[in-house]
Amino acid sequence: MCGITGFVGSDGAIQIALESLKRLEYRGYDSVGVAYPQNNHIAVVRSAGKINRLLDRLDGEVPDVAVAIAHTRWATHGQPTEANAHPHRDCSGELAVAHNGIIENYDPLRDELQRMGHRFSSETDTEVLPHLIEHYLSKTSDLVEAVRLSLRRVEGSYAIAVVSTRYPGGVIVARKDSPLVIGLAEGSKLIASDIPAVLPYVKDVLILEDGDVAAITPETVTLSDISGKAVHRSPTRVGWRIEEAEKGGYSHYMLKEIHEEPAAVRNALRGRIYNDRIKLEGIPITPAEWRRFERVEIVACGTAYHAGLLGKRLIEQLIRVPTEAVVASEFRYSDPLVDEKTLVLLISQSGETADTLAAMREAKQRGAYTLAIVNVMGSTLAREAGGVIYTQAGPEIGVASTKAYLAQLVVIHLLAIHWAQQIGAPSMGDGASCSVLVNELKRLPELVAGVLQGEPCIKSLADRLADRSCFIYLGRGYDFAAAMEAALKLKEISYIHAEAYAAGEMKHGPLALIEPGVVVIGLATQPLTNAKLWSNLKEVKARNGTVVVVHTEGEAVQGGSDYQIPIPSASPSLMPAIAMVPLQLLAYHIANARGCQIDQPRNLAKSVTVE
Ligand code: F6R
Repeated sequence: MCGITGFVGSDGAIQIALESLKRLEYRGYDSVGVAYPQNNHIAVVRSAGKINRLLDRLDGEVPDVAVAIAHTRWATHGQPTEANAHPHRDCSGELAVAHNGIIENYDPLRDELQRMGHRFSSETDTEVLPHLIEHYLSKTSDLVEAVRLSLRRVEGSYAIAVVSTRYPGGVIVARKDSPLVIGLAEGSKLIASDIPAVLPYVKDVLILEDGDVAAITPETVTLSDISGKAVHRSPTRVGWRIEEAEKGGYSHYMLKEIHEEPAAVRNALRGRIYNDRIKLEGIPITPAEWRRFERVEIVACGTAYHAGLLGKRLIEQLIRVPTEAVVASEFRYSDPLVDEKTLVLLISQSGETADTLAAMREAKQRGAYTLAIVNVMGSTLAREAGGVIYTQAGPEIGVASTKAYLAQLVVIHLLAIHWAQQIGAPSMGDGASCSVLVNELKRLPELVAGVLQGEPCIKSLADRLADRSCFIYLGRGYDFAAAMEAALKLKEISYIHAEAYAAGEMKHGPLALIEPGVVVIGLATQPLTNAKLWSNLKEVKARNGTVVVVHTEGEAVQGGSDYQIPIPSASPSLMPAIAMVPLQLLAYHIANARGCQIDQPRNLAKSVTVE
């Protein structure tokens, strides 16, 4: 989704703002722009398309200025044209605004401003902001106050950056429901929608909270709330290394992030296992409170929701508390059965997904305890939920989620085991005890690393299947949750139609799809149901579908298959974490063979900040 960057210092501002913007490319965008004070007005250069097109516009001559803001836009109101690209200026050309989010009441505001004589030059909701600020500057000479007065009129979500000739050496920023951080260095400050954008320049960041307005100069950051009351925020030291946010020799971030999975799993476990007991900081829940929960609702979107599907099974197995996994966009409007005895578990890589945030707020309002599993430090979900467990996977840049999914699975295990230990739950139905699971978790990084060694075989399989147009993923139990995620991975980066079904459902309809050329990928890692799965695959083979089976090493493959992907064996609930590695690689290499834009698939964005 859209990204904002900016620099306030002594020179090189445009260069640095655009470099930072490139680090936000992963969020997805379709137009780009930059604004900076120059000769008593605000210069704006914008372009449809990618950052390189903007550089062409600048004719390779980037003016050396001390202050600049830049923006990548992902079109919501109006086409991705130059006119609609941000930053947008007021009528006088003396101020410009870059904005992420949506101004919901822009229609009446625009009418009102037009009646006052303001002229608009775009179709965007954002353009009301510079005109509103211009309007309030006729009532106060204080730019920060004019920004505050304007924001009080606005309904919706925003992170904004404002440059103005009235504040030539600085930038004013504000946020509500859309992330913004300020990178702190001696003699300069950076702004960005996300921490990776400022990582090369700073180690300390101020993470703005909703309602914050900041006036930034090279030396100072003055924070207030929207009414003008002073606010204090402490800086956060960022633990991520810069290499973690760069491609490091891989052709795509997605491939790099798949190869980082052993480290992501290790990091998710780091500091959380002591003598086989799970210790989780950030969740102030007492054993009595753990006992009080009568229901669990796991709420998330996309890949995180698929992690939640596994969580549902695991929690029910380990804790015996009824648990549902729900997609966040459905939860909020379903009049959910949620009260003080419900634990609402929210899972999100970014911690900024609008649907998940809305669901969390709805759950809170209904009295539920909200607990978030989040990757991005200081994100809105992490701050607003009742408790947070970080997945500690490091920055995930590729739009398709990979290492964050594995880290989410690990954290769900840690949470369920921790809960079981807190209430002294007996062992799971299949006999697996918490201590067995803990030992298996400790082994997981090395199992995942082992599976990565098989990449050349997966690549040659991908080359053989890359021209197929229909993939069906089948699994039962935990394997079904994994099948859902594997199908999403393939469809989102290769644009091939891929669906997942609970294997037993095939005979109730989808079997009609099978004909030569259709690829069916069966996951056969669950001892309890494998025999049934083999029969389901036999039915596919009998109709000349191409069968690929992901199975546990040593297990005899039955039912006839064209290709096999053996993976090491572990507890049933951990098998999706292992099986997903070759399936992510398969999706990656198929997409690569088809020449797709893997890190930024068409129509998709990394952080989906609209409902
Ligand atoms: C798929 C993918 C998306 C996200 C979904 C939720 O690869 O990345 O489906 O999982 O948009 O995003 P987060 O986890 O940031 O809430």
